[in-house]
Amino acid sequence: MKDSERCRVDLIRLGELGRRGGERVERREQLSMETGLIRVEGSPEIKASKDYLIEKMKEAGLKVRFDPVGNIFGRREGFKASGGAVMAGSHLDSVLNGGMFDGALGVIATLEAVRRMEDEGFQNDRPIEVAVFTGEEGSAFHMVLLGSSVLIGEATYEEGQEIRNDEGVSLREALREQGHVGDFQLDLDDIEYFVELHVEQGPILHNEDIPLGVVENVTGLSWVKAIIRGEENHAGTTPMSMRIDPLVASADIIKFVNRRANELAAESGTTVGTTGRLIVHPGLPNIIPGTVELGIDIRDTNDATKKALIKEVISEITSLEGRYGVRTETEVLFDHKPSALSGVVIGAIKRSAEEVGIRYHMMNSGAGHDAQNIAHRVKTGMIFVPSVGGVSHSPLEWTDWGDIERGVKVLTRTLKNLSAL
Ligand code: HGY
Ligand code: MN
Ligand code: MN
Repeated sequence: MKDSERCRVDLIRLGELGRRGGERVERREQLSMETGLIRVEGSPEIKASKDYLIEKMKEAGLKVRFDPVGNIFGRREGFKASGGAVMAGSHLDSVLNGGMFDGALGVIATLEAVRRMEDEGFQNDRPIEVAVFTGEEGSAFHMVLLGSSVLIGEATYEEGQEIRNDEGVSLREALREQGHVGDFQLDLDDIEYFVELHVEQGPILHNEDIPLGVVENVTGLSWVKAIIRGEENHAGTTPMSMRIDPLVASADIIKFVNRRANELAAESGTTVGTTGRLIVHPGLPNIIPGTVELGIDIRDTNDATKKALIKEVISEITSLEGRYGVRTETEVLFDHKPSALSGVVIGAIKRSAEEVGIRYHMMNSGAGHDAQNIAHRVKTGMIFVPSVGGVSHSPLEWTDWGDIERGVKVLTRTLKNLSAL
């Protein structure tokens, strides 16, 4: 099998795992809004995808270890006695209704880079670690970048294991049942460089017809959870003047987040704010809702602006109590700082792209990535490949196979070059 074909086969196979209907998608024309990927931590589909990957890692001669929050590491030893490792990878979990390349591409591309080194008899001076981070998307266990947050010490292994999904199952229980957990604890002091290849998830590369992005900064991102309680009652018999309706109060917050993010974006250009989760209990037209849960996503490459907006949003939520008579609770589920990536790794990626003759564009990332966490401890870089039409976190996400092969080529060369530094 040709190298590019091997990588394509893996991505197509992983793309079946969690796709509604289980269809096999090989071409963009086969995508539809009905066939999004749902592959969240704790599901049978994520188990199947990790099992597939682990088998492939072993076939490639990697030594596979699991840590207590289910991060997976596959090591190819270095040919020199000393020196920190070069790590690369991404995640296998998806959002609800996502695409087949977000995360999986970075994992398979790294595996493929190692397979090419093996085939060529390339001797990497530094060890190479293929990393698969747990729960990047926060879809089931609501902490985005879960696995890498534990690695950098933002949460302990214990705290990570204790996070529960909506069914009340802890990550510890979910991982144990799936057999994807172990005692290995990676020490980031033993890692010299980290690289994550990812789909851009935005329109810049596609619109400018450039095959590769080299990332300089990754946005900071935070989720605020709000519970707004009112008085559940009969929609037909309760006079309008006697209601405490938390959904009506919530509408103010949805508008507020959008308006303030627009205003700040007009000033700085990098603020975004979204209310992407709205859960109404009990959720029937003939009941005035008793409780509403909101999930709000706030991002900015400027940490101070992001923090200020989080504060404003929380204070606006609290102010609903006086205006509507509701009771409110708020919680910042996480607040990941923005990251400037490493000049050394950026330089290595640029040089590698030039060596294999691939044009690139310098850019920032508005999506969150495990790389932004790892960057706080390790010299880190990111490589982007184009997303057709700039679409991602959607069943219609697509990246052309030729762009994937170009990305894999640059990643492979980058890992080789970093291993020799
Ligand atoms: O939400 C994000 O940006 C990431 O894809 N988890
Ligand atoms: Mn994503
Ligand atoms: Mn991703």
